[in-house]
Amino acid sequence: MEVRLKNNEDFLNTQARICKEAMMPTEQAETGNLQILLGQVGAGLDEYLKFEHPDAMHPNNCWREFLDSPLPQQGVGIGQVTADLVNHVIPNGSPVPRPGFSSFITTGSTSASTLASAAASIASPQRYMHTAFNFLEELSLQWLAKMCGIENMQGVYSSGGSVANLIALGGARQSAFERLGHDPAADGVNRSVSVYASEECHHTIQRSGGILGIGRHAIKLIACDSKGRMRLDCLQKAIAADKVAGILPMAIVANAGTTNTGAIDPLQAIGEIATENSIWFHVDGAYGLPGILDEQISHLFQGLDLADSVIVDPHKWLGASVGIAATFVRDRQCLYRAFTQEPADYLEGSVEQRDQSAPAIEHSLDDFGIPYFDFGVELSAPCRGVVVWALIREIGVQGMRERVKRHNAMARHLAQYANDHPNLEVLSEPTLSICCFRYISPHIVDLDDFNQRLHRRLVRENKYMPSTTRVKGSLALRPCYVGARADHPQVDALLESVLRIGKDLETDI
Ligand SMILES: Cc1ncc(COP(=O)(O)O)c(C=O)c1O
Repeated sequence: MEVRLKNNEDFLNTQARICKEAMMPTEQAETGNLQILLGQVGAGLDEYLKFEHPDAMHPNNCWREFLDSPLPQQGVGIGQVTADLVNHVIPNGSPVPRPGFSSFITTGSTSASTLASAAASIASPQRYMHTAFNFLEELSLQWLAKMCGIENMQGVYSSGGSVANLIALGGARQSAFERLGHDPAADGVNRSVSVYASEECHHTIQRSGGILGIGRHAIKLIACDSKGRMRLDCLQKAIAADKVAGILPMAIVANAGTTNTGAIDPLQAIGEIATENSIWFHVDGAYGLPGILDEQISHLFQGLDLADSVIVDPHKWLGASVGIAATFVRDRQCLYRAFTQEPADYLEGSVEQRDQSAPAIEHSLDDFGIPYFDFGVELSAPCRGVVVWALIREIGVQGMRERVKRHNAMARHLAQYANDHPNLEVLSEPTLSICCFRYISPHIVDLDDFNQRLHRRLVRENKYMPSTTRVKGSLALRPCYVGARADHPQVDALLESVLRIGKDLETDI
């Protein structure tokens, strides 16, 4: 269904008049009409959120023909751009925000996040300088840390879990080499190191190894137990073997919620091994860290206080727009030494060089404020703190807790139903909000192939869309509930769809 802008003609006429009055239509960038324009886009988004339109790839959708136009020499004006967004772009967006979408670990942003991002893009495009937005950068990091049980840590935002892990491991590299009197940020690495991570770790850990110059092969994958948790005996063996071989143990990476199944590694025991061996202890909680809010499983997060670094992605479970992760460390100075930029005249000269005796700040440009750009890999970066602040301020810790508990309960409900049903099999019992399961029947010879076909049919129905993964070698349907709009009816409807499609496919056998 195509949404047509109401009063579009009037609006375009107004726009044409504004352009004409300005006598420079090709340069028109500001109209003073944001209230109207955002209202138009908001109406289009409200319509989108009814989820009544078909998938973007539906044969009737002709957006590609409309959008695939040559480079325009003359602009069409903001009114037409707004109309194009509302009529052709927004209705052909992604299935990710749908309540029944449970693929990967991703979701649509909530209204609070959308409003805060839009506000920041106009009122504070950069996170530095003394502004309300810059203030919220730090305040929200502190709120986030407190909410997730790591309140004594200091944070920095980045674009996602991949970069957040990279920053944390940059801190680990700095710490490990500095203890040997060597500065790896300045001089590069001068010996082989190992990073121990479970075989269920996110693959961005290996990429971080490549970027940090220690090599992807420096990541030693430690075997997991039957529940997808790192095996302590294998970890200890690997560390001991490296010590004998003269390889420097640089970091241990534990999962607080694996990507595949949501397993939580034994954090306390791993933290103690890290402490005994003076190894940096990193916890990847990109997805699972907010799970600590669920009293039923909060004990699994014991040991977080031993961590040297922890990451969490507000754009996963907290409803932030994509592009927001946080790395927390005990002392940001370590990140400063790992990532600080060389001084640049065009930056340093533009603010006062302040020390303790400097007068009170009187202008937002008196200095840059907390130098987040020295704690990671981005100089220009959006204000992400205002988004996290808005999300937490809107529903509070209690609201976040209810969401996390609801999602975990959904996964448990799914598992219970599947365990009781003769045509369903649970492949991994949920710890958090993921339940891996499959359709079974004595008539099916190749269960992997059958469930793969079932999954393709399911996704094409465009309502309940889990992804798949492999659990102990078997193909599993893998719903992961993190979306603010996801609720219990989506679980029942997913089960109904899987059983219906499964029965139907069985008739072809
Ligand atoms: C445990 C874990 N770490 C890191 C990442 C990477 O996060 P991002 O996709 O935000 O870069 C993911 C992504 O799903 C993840 O599940």
